[in-house]
Amino acid sequence: MENREKPIGIFDSGLGGLTSVKAVSEALPNEDIVYFGDTARVPYGDRSKETIMEYVKDDIEFLLSHDVKAIVIACNTADSMARLEMESIFRIPIVGVVGPAAKKAALATENGRIGVIGTNATVRSDAYRKVINEYNPSASVFAVACPLLVPLVEEGRISLNDRVTRRVLREYLLPLAEKRIDTLVLGCTHYPLLSPIIAEILPGVVLVDSGEAAVASLQRKLNDSKLSAPSDKKGKIKYFVSDNAESFARHGGIFMGHEINGKVTEVNI
Ligand code: DGL
Repeated sequence: MENREKPIGIFDSGLGGLTSVKAVSEALPNEDIVYFGDTARVPYGDRSKETIMEYVKDDIEFLLSHDVKAIVIACNTADSMARLEMESIFRIPIVGVVGPAAKKAALATENGRIGVIGTNATVRSDAYRKVINEYNPSASVFAVACPLLVPLVEEGRISLNDRVTRRVLREYLLPLAEKRIDTLVLGCTHYPLLSPIIAEILPGVVLVDSGEAAVASLQRKLNDSKLSAPSDKKGKIKYFVSDNAESFARHGGIFMGHEINGKVTEVNI
């Protein structure tokens, strides 16, 4: 098989990376995708750097066993904790979500005050602030860890009138409103599903979706390496998880916006 006909590998700690699968498959409909969700070991967001690096290495090795041509780290936690190390181990184009989203926020802000929300590990890594300040050295970055949001989204508590989710979000976001941010990075796979509520709590603030921001960077990397799929090809998606394929298939629709088409295979990595 020619290299450009090979699939793109996308992985996440669990279900959340399906927001990236959705964005990539909509923008690049000719590409085959192999998705891996590490559902046996989710969440990554409260773990140590060493453990996250070990998991991420396993995830990438699994995708390489499917002969992928490039890898998207859809998980903000994995990207902020392990991408640089993985780029030095694996000789394959790797695209993360943090760099593209940080750049977009750095260029979008008008008052130079940017909020970042993410898991405990993502905020602890300081990865977003570092990249934002590379593009916009005078920007002030206010990062808040929001560990209660992932379980709420996975429980499907995403509707505009969900009082519990709204209350939790207000508690996390009102301190950012006091800092007068004009741009907020949704630095976690799950948060784009909360955008409608976030937009009501922070009216006028530009929301940057990290999964969406990564797509342009992936497209550029594929073009530069002459790895884009032929334009007459219709892309297919294969799903793999490390635990509970049935639950993944049932809940995946929340992230994809439609039911998961195709089989979900459980693997032991
Ligand atoms: N996928 C993770 C992220 O984007 C959230 C879930 C987890 O903690 O593993 O940071």
